[in-house]
Amino acid sequence: MCGIIGVVSANNVSETLFNGLSNLEYRGYDSVGMCFIKNGKLTVRKGVGKLEEVHRKVNFLKLKGSIGLGHCRWSTHGGVTENNAHPHVDCRKRIGVVHNGIIENYSELKEMLIKKGHRFYSQTDTEVIAHLIEDNLKNGKIEDAVRNALKKMEGSYALGILFAGSPGKLIAARNESPLVVGIGDNENFIASDVPSILSRTNKIIYLEDGEMAVLTKNEAKTFDLDGKEKKKKVHEINWNAEAAQKSGYKHFMLKEIYEQPRAIADTLNGRLENNHVVFEEEFGLTDGFLKSIKRIVILACGTSWHAGLIGEFMLEELAKIPAEVEYASEFRYRHALLGKDTLVIAITQSGETADTMAALKEAKKYGVKTLAVCNVIGSSITRISDGVIYTRAGPEIGVASTKAFTTQLAVLYLFTILLAKLRKTLNEKQIKDMINGIRKIPLQLQSVLDEDNEILKCAELYYNKQNSLYLGRGVNFPIALEGALKLKEVSYIHAEGYPAAEMKHGPIALIDKSMPVMFIAPHDIFTYKKVLGNIEEVKARGGIIIAVATAGDTEIPKKAKHTIFIPKTLYTLSSILSVVPLQLLAYHIADRLGRDIDKPRNLAKSVVVE
Ligand code: G6P
Repeated sequence: MCGIIGVVSANNVSETLFNGLSNLEYRGYDSVGMCFIKNGKLTVRKGVGKLEEVHRKVNFLKLKGSIGLGHCRWSTHGGVTENNAHPHVDCRKRIGVVHNGIIENYSELKEMLIKKGHRFYSQTDTEVIAHLIEDNLKNGKIEDAVRNALKKMEGSYALGILFAGSPGKLIAARNESPLVVGIGDNENFIASDVPSILSRTNKIIYLEDGEMAVLTKNEAKTFDLDGKEKKKKVHEINWNAEAAQKSGYKHFMLKEIYEQPRAIADTLNGRLENNHVVFEEEFGLTDGFLKSIKRIVILACGTSWHAGLIGEFMLEELAKIPAEVEYASEFRYRHALLGKDTLVIAITQSGETADTMAALKEAKKYGVKTLAVCNVIGSSITRISDGVIYTRAGPEIGVASTKAFTTQLAVLYLFTILLAKLRKTLNEKQIKDMINGIRKIPLQLQSVLDEDNEILKCAELYYNKQNSLYLGRGVNFPIALEGALKLKEVSYIHAEGYPAAEMKHGPIALIDKSMPVMFIAPHDIFTYKKVLGNIEEVKARGGIIIAVATAGDTEIPKKAKHTIFIPKTLYTLSSILSVVPLQLLAYHIADRLGRDIDKPRNLAKSVVVE
């Protein structure tokens, strides 16, 4: 998993590559490199470490050239060494390649190339690509050589290629790894994502699998693998570059937590008309089909999987459709039984998670209809789904997902209302209450954010604990899982999420005076009283109770050491509010511990390899 960027321009490109790579580091940061062509010569600089560390050694900004490639790596094939860092080159050091993906047949290709006399210096699958292009460079035409090389490669790739013999041309190709082309003013770009080039252009072409692009500073042309030109739509992206920056917050994670009122408001914008939910054209599913659905299967990973659990709850409770949630990584390797009346929903912030993509492809084999709930316009998963509902969270840069999660919940809630109305499982009054409920959420979220000082105090008191437990029930059980995941991801403190009533079947043995126990206990008619009982059980064993409760609750503060209040809302909406204090708690604890919050160790924002 890696990030790639390339620029061809009338001017020097080192700064554009450097800034782009710093935005792409969420995709990988174990090594980094750049290459340029100047005076018909290819120059490569690379090293092990994060961008800033390697920059201190090689001074990327000193390099000059009007065409260049950059790469930040998250190793898959070959260890973390300077030789394995990208860009990779051919024997004569005239072809430079950056790659995101995995070439599955690289061993055979490497063997064949070695027999022909090619000399390799790294253990990567990517180096094979540079030599394979060199091997196909019969008439000196780089496009033909790349095309022929691609036809011999199996696996996934987003590629950027430079050739010293064609110093004004940047070649790109894509198969199952994200890659966009940016159209600038006297300069053109390729990149793994849109925010990394957004400061230079908002005109974007999404490359499809099996497509190649040839960029000069004045034009960008797209071809299929037979060399036939394809005219592609140029999308205007309305995210501004500033949205991709920290806007004064210490970390992206904090900025993104604080953006949630705005993100939810954007996600609702234009979708609530009187007593109706209306989605855009790309929603793509007809009323007839929506009425006929007998079962919903949700596929996702990580935080998106937690959103799926809450979606399951909403869909069954309100739209009365049997629903289940699967880890995409598990689903892809079993032969699930899906009928034509099943709807499969993929939930994914990035739209690029390899397991979710593969699970969705597996589901499609059964001829089912598919819907993506996704944050990234034009991403791979949205392109293979029958319909899409976009979460309008804006770019999420912090590795730990926050605003993408709450906007996923908002979308699932809207989708549930739409189904409940069509299928008449709720009456008009109930639908109206649900719509009124979500309309209030942006303001209510703001008042939860106002509790931040109280949460900071808890973080100050408990940041040095080694373990903690998160307990919730019903729609707030997935919030216990998500709260625990947030703490693990950014602070590296062990945390477990559990259904509160299950505690007595094991985790209760862990409770002593040093164990913080987070109860997610908003007031509801279903389980509130039972959760009070669970709180007593923890209290009796000396656990440190921190509770998230509904404003006005007088019972919980009597029992808990700390109570964070959230406003009163509908039961199914309480999870959108109750997760926020847990995001903030994880953030403040990690900050107190001096963790690398936006890029926690061993984690990456999108896991685009299996
Ligand atoms: C990674 C990220 C998580 C995210 C998960 C699924 O593990 O670190 O924050 O929840 O991938 O990503 P997706 O883009 O499919 O939602």
